[in-house]
Amino acid sequence: MNNPLVRTRTIGVFDSGVGGLSVLKAIRLGHPTVNFIYIADSGNAPYGGRPAEFIERRASQIADALVEGGAEIIVVACNTATAVAVEKLRSQLSIPVVAMEPAIKPAVGYTRTGVIGVLATERTLESMAVKRLCREYGQGVNVLLQPCPGLVEMVERGELSTEPTRAYLRNLINPLIAQGADTLVLGCTHYVFLEPEIRKIAGPGVEIVESSEAVARQVIRHLGSERAPALAKHTSQESFLTTGLPDHAEKIFSQLWGAPVEVRALETGNIRAHA
Ligand code: DGL
Repeated sequence: MNNPLVRTRTIGVFDSGVGGLSVLKAIRLGHPTVNFIYIADSGNAPYGGRPAEFIERRASQIADALVEGGAEIIVVACNTATAVAVEKLRSQLSIPVVAMEPAIKPAVGYTRTGVIGVLATERTLESMAVKRLCREYGQGVNVLLQPCPGLVEMVERGELSTEPTRAYLRNLINPLIAQGADTLVLGCTHYVFLEPEIRKIAGPGVEIVESSEAVARQVIRHLGSERAPALAKHTSQESFLTTGLPDHAEKIFSQLWGAPVEVRALETGNIRAHA
């Protein structure tokens, strides 16, 4: 039962698929009792090679569903959807929209060799947002932009440490290291789940940076004083939804979330967070 004295707001989080669970985990770590609705648009993943209009349309439709389900803050847990659709989304919604971008700025602070590698989807890497980040923070730094077609699909299938995934990661990462990169940016929320493998390939001298904690801090700032009560009797309400096949999704969600979760199809009436 919810403690009636404590009003906890509901956040609505979405991604093209399961990658945004990495962001939700970071939010949960900082705010263990926040209510949330998570929508994975796995039926339409990956977004990375899709036209911008398609991604914009999906982002609007999903954000509307989240608002309908009671979300009071929207978290775009997807670099690609942010790069393409966040401005339009903010102009359409009257609630806060927290979004993300590849961690190029912190990476520039970390590098000693002056070479950083950015792993992200094609759509993210060719976006104005990444061009701006490179222009503003990448002066004097060699920013190697590395698209990773097919990698989101591997994570969607739960193939985090299979030999084909490792081999593909080696092909992506070794050339960046050979060019002197000592810092790698994981510019896609799906890739965060591959960090252990990426770390093994890159070696101990390479810094790996991603944005989930920074996004979590922003969300928690928006939640503000709601953290203050002890929330001793509070049971948070949560809802995991997918546009893909729920049976398949349940296995992958549970693997990535680290505990068994129920995943339902995104349908009207299914959206609201529940205890
Ligand atoms: N998790 C999304 C991101 O952060 C993946 C996009 C895709 O589906 O290609 O970019």
